[in-house]
Amino acid sequence: MKVDLKNKVIVITGAAGGIGEGCAKVLLENGATVIIADITRDKGQEVEAELSKIGACKFIHLDVTDKNHG
Ligand SMILES: NC(=O)c1ccc[n+]([C@@H]2O[C@H](COP(=O)([O-])OP(=O)(O)OC[C@H]3O[C@@H](n4cnc5c(N)ncnc54)[C@H](O)[C@@H]3O)[C@@H](O)[C@H]2O)c1
Repeated sequence: MKVDLKNKVIVITGAAGGIGEGCAKVLLENGATVIIADITRDKGQEVEAELSKIGACKFIHLDVTDKNHG
């Protein structure tokens, strides 16, 4: 199913692999800008490079368990 997500910015945590990466890919294919946030920096940057071939994708390094992480 195609949904128009142009002008939407979506943040996905745990998106350097697995379900999060899969969701990021589908959302990019539907026009969203996607921020992939993950604790694993190397894989996050790899996935950012790969998904940027589809659309606007940016990696941020984040530990969701640490409220002071930024
Ligand atoms: N794969 C399945 O079939 C399935 C089914 C039901 C539930 N789940 C649950 O869904 C979740 C994701 O599953 P998955 O298969 O995509 O796992 P995964 O291990 O492939 O991906 C999890 C991602 O979260 C990141 N991550 C871990 N701790 C983090 C933190 N503190 N801050 C930011 N990022 C962090 C990891 O680096 C990794 O990239 C898990 O909790 C899993 O138990 C998975």
